Amino acid sequence: MERRAGGVQGRRAMATRVLSLVGIAVVALVALSACTDDNSFYSTISPRSESAGDIQFLYKVIFFMSLVVFVGVQVAIVYTVLHFRRRSEDDARPEQVHGNKTLEIVWTIIPAVVLLIIFIPTVQTMYDHAAEAEDANESEDAYVIEIYGKQWWWEVHYAKPDEVAQVVTANEIRVPVGRQLLFKLYSNNVIHSFWVPQLHGKMDVIPGHENELAFTVSEPGVYYGECAEFCGDAHAWMRFKVIAQPQEQFDAWVAAWKAGPSQEAAAISGDVSVAPQAFSACLACHRVNGQTANSSGGEITPLQTGLEAPQISGPNLTLFGCRTTIAAGMLEHTPENLHAWIENAPSIKPGSHMPPYGADAGGALTDEQIDAVVTYLMSLKPEGGCTPLTGENVEAPPVAGQ
Ligand code: CUA
Repeated sequence: MERRAGGVQGRRAMATRVLSLVGIAVVALVALSACTDDNSFYSTISPRSESAGDIQFLYKVIFFMSLVVFVGVQVAIVYTVLHFRRRSEDDARPEQVHGNKTLEIVWTIIPAVVLLIIFIPTVQTMYDHAAEAEDANESEDAYVIEIYGKQWWWEVHYAKPDEVAQVVTANEIRVPVGRQLLFKLYSNNVIHSFWVPQLHGKMDVIPGHENELAFTVSEPGVYYGECAEFCGDAHAWMRFKVIAQPQEQFDAWVAAWKAGPSQEAAAISGDVSVAPQAFSACLACHRVNGQTANSSGGEITPLQTGLEAPQISGPNLTLFGCRTTIAAGMLEHTPENLHAWIENAPSIKPGSHMPPYGADAGGALTDEQIDAVVTYLMSLKPEGGCTPLTGENVEAPPVAGQ
């Protein structure tokens, strides 16, 4: 009877072991398939710039070295377990060993060599990337784009060349394909981190300090980025996009930004350059150029830029009708979402500095007034409407709830 009970227990133990092995295999497969999904918006393994390619090369070096180590260790374990297992009750206890100088030296030297093999190309890449930023600084042709990390969105100032100077936008960074881009990163609040996995490594955005990174986007498309340094309540919703377009499309966007909205593309009757009365509440923080609501009477307000620049408190909304998301990549760009956002932003995005404006939420605007602001903002489009985006990732913006 005892033997039978032992047999059942043995089978149970075996079943548990098999189940755990199957579980581990499933987890590994899922992880592997997630890693190899080339269409992931935040993928580091489908680089679209030389800089991101360098980083992917490092990743491959480390991955394959880890693979060799992993397989080696597993083989050694399986061999040891099978070869030295206790074969019967009568087996004598093996000789007990303490310390082995040769082995210890070997297993210290091997990891040291492995680390050295990782260290050398890593440092080389870091110096190369710093040199590229240096080179972009001296180049006459590079586009210089200043990025200000805010809580919790990104302000974008175009600084060079002269044709783009003074253009300001937020969260959706339009750039020309095939041109060297130099990003200068600033913050006046806390530390953020600017990261577009397909285009470059992470770079911290530090208060009182200028950080730079440079790259050239090789193909048109929409490249997703996000803040990669915990920075407060809505850190997880501090997303952005780099929208890389062919030069002529980019130039058209810049021209449209400067020209202001066009009545032709507007969904409102009357003059799209005249903001609704209710929009005056928004002007405490936001700006739209090319219309009467601008504090400077429709002119582009000259910007100070750099480390000491006065910071703008809310996103510039020029050409808002062509944006693809609302609230730093959080919501789909629809009138309903914009209405909900204006009504009660903090209920959607934790910690949002934009107060609730809806009367129901204790704000000053009625539903009709919010609708007027929504229609107005959605009408801010250039002559001929928004140019459709081209390239990869243009179809599916990952937003809240997906
Ligand atoms: Cu900004 Cu996290």
